[in-house]
Amino acid sequence: MKTLKQSVWEAKEKGVAVGHFNISNLEALWGIFKAAQSLNVPVIIGVSEGERDFVGVKQAVALVKSIREEFDYPIYLNADHTYSFERVKEAIDAGFDSVIVDGAKLSFDENVKLTKQCVDYARVQEKETGREVLVEAELGYIGQSSKVLDEIPEGVLLDESSLTDPAKAKEFVELTGVDMLAPAVGNFHGMLRSGVDPKLNIERVKQISDATGIPLVLHGGSGNSGDDFKMSIANGIVIVHINTEIRIAFRDGVKKYLQENPDEVAPYKFLKPGMLAVQEVVTAKLKYFNNL
Ligand code: G3H
Ligand code: ZN
Repeated sequence: MKTLKQSVWEAKEKGVAVGHFNISNLEALWGIFKAAQSLNVPVIIGVSEGERDFVGVKQAVALVKSIREEFDYPIYLNADHTYSFERVKEAIDAGFDSVIVDGAKLSFDENVKLTKQCVDYARVQEKETGREVLVEAELGYIGQSSKVLDEIPEGVLLDESSLTDPAKAKEFVELTGVDMLAPAVGNFHGMLRSGVDPKLNIERVKQISDATGIPLVLHGGSGNSGDDFKMSIANGIVIVHINTEIRIAFRDGVKKYLQENPDEVAPYKFLKPGMLAVQEVVTAKLKYFNNL
């Protein structure tokens, strides 16, 4: 079985991206896995601090591991947006494949310090247990919630001078030894109500990729166009995160079913349309990410 690191670097070489999709429940996990399996591409399951508090930290590991082993499939688990060393440590100890240290709101120096502490811990654990855990960091604020937005999140600025600076990104990577970096390149968490977010700054993606040489991760993928995905992947993005669109699909699938079948009480019946709706969204995204 390929490790996450192998899958990520293989994607970089091939000029494709690995899809990262968040879950809050088992139905979404099945929808995502079935979509990836139907296209035979690796996939990453993400759980933010809130999502893993709901699913259970150890339970998330057990669920993904059970699918990986039963189907002999490259499905990985990421501790998405983690704000403290304690919670990074908790995820590494529990058996996650990767962790995201989110110091985007901190000063540059504080972000370096927190990220470095997490990278050091991951490396020590790897030596002691032989289990490799990738560490991703955030440089540049892109908002924090996967939801429908009426306006661009407060504190997110899309002008060139507010995006991640390539020279700073290079310095950050050298100081921390981080495996992957999530920059601010015109992206933000959540999706505008229209379903269409502003275009990404592809030139900036390329500059940051050239400066750092490590795989870049595009967060806030909901609402971005197929063209944005294609261009950003061709210029250094190796993982793309999608959450809001999956949440909407799941909710709408379940809602429609219950509106049409108000007396249904079997969860496996009224949750299934949610799962199928997630599968449909994820299939479409994975096709973009993998040039299929
Ligand atoms: O980490 C999660 C993602 O960045 C999701 O962003 O809700 O805009 O798709 P999104
Ligand atoms: Zn994110």
